[in-house]
Amino acid sequence: MPEQKKGLARMLKSLGERLPMDKFDFKHLVMEKEVPVHKMSWAYYLGGLTLFFFLVQVVTGIFLLFYYEPTVSDAHASVEFITRYVKNGFFIRNLHAWASSCMILCLMAHAITTFAMKAFARPREIIWSSGALLLLLGFTFGFTGYLLPWHQIAVNATKVMLQSIDRSGQYLPGVLAGVPHYLTQLIQGGPMIGQATLSRFYALHVVILPLLVAGILGLHLLAVQLHGMSQGTDKPTGKSEKFFPFFILKDLIVWGVAFFIIFIIASCLPFESFSPFPLFQPFNALGATPEGIKPEWYFYFTYYPLELLPFWLVMIGLTATGVVLFLTPRIFKNTSRPMLAVIAWLITAYLVIITLFGSFIYALVKGGHP
Ligand code: HEM
Repeated sequence: MPEQKKGLARMLKSLGERLPMDKFDFKHLVMEKEVPVHKMSWAYYLGGLTLFFFLVQVVTGIFLLFYYEPTVSDAHASVEFITRYVKNGFFIRNLHAWASSCMILCLMAHAITTFAMKAFARPREIIWSSGALLLLLGFTFGFTGYLLPWHQIAVNATKVMLQSIDRSGQYLPGVLAGVPHYLTQLIQGGPMIGQATLSRFYALHVVILPLLVAGILGLHLLAVQLHGMSQGTDKPTGKSEKFFPFFILKDLIVWGVAFFIIFIIASCLPFESFSPFPLFQPFNALGATPEGIKPEWYFYFTYYPLELLPFWLVMIGLTATGVVLFLTPRIFKNTSRPMLAVIAWLITAYLVIITLFGSFIYALVKGGHP
């Protein structure tokens, strides 16, 4: 019994160190917080910018809900109606689409820069692991949202993604082999993509994911405020600025500039203009699967390896990446910041090259277009 008590006390002490609720007062959370000034201080704005784009998503998403119909018979027509006939519908839908891409871009940049600054180190593990969950939820938002317009590309691309999950079962040992198939059926809601799938993606996209993100984000931001900003560099300059009112004012200026830019883009540039496919074609079960369908750009980092490398190799790579992501505070505990910066640069280089030049690399290796 005393051993059990000691174990519990140790656990509570460790939790208290990671989430020091005794510091939960306005003075500590807002008035006393300082933001270090150094050559990577710009990275402290990326979390706020991600938050801004998430808020844009919530507001524009609510407006879209006024008209969107989550049924296989009406989903496509309702999206077309929003775009063509609802007052400012084109703008709101466009803003939702552009802001989703901006959010994922900022999310990735935020994760990479906090990694390089070693902002995951003890006692900030909760900030990091809640962030890692937010990263996965961010991708799931993109995946579920893509299907909602129910056009030919969306349904076929989702089919391909679900088939990939299903196939991964053959590389798992024993009882685990059945998990991906079970998961696919659970997501799909039946033997093939249909109304049950759309209803599930809709529930995930507009209720379950937003609630999960709100809860986890609340924990993430609370832990950030309780701990204050990490020093971020091995050679602190000794300079810092007050979080309130100076840093928060600059944060708001950054939000204002971001809003101005995205407002202009969403007003004049349809999101679809970058798609090589006619996105206004409703899904037709008897129609041919379009050649070379691709997911959104932020999935290229797995899409092109899946096209070019053996499936099992990509699965091992993805699993290893997930494990390393969640165990980062443990794995890189003793790694120096300059070394972390090198790793961060390598990850960035991979993401930029595969996203911008993936189709070129594909053509080079396999000939033709992916
Ligand atoms: C919806 C997604 C997210 C939002 C809205 C968000 C928001 C924020 C905000 C506002 C901050 C404080 C300012 C800053 O350092 O930029 C912060 C800090 C932090 N975030 Fe996130 N974040 C998200 C996802 C992530 C992800 C994916 C990771 C990493 C896997 C992460 C790791 C961190 C860390 C380690 C800090 C502490 C930075 C420091 O102390 O210097 N966050 N986040």
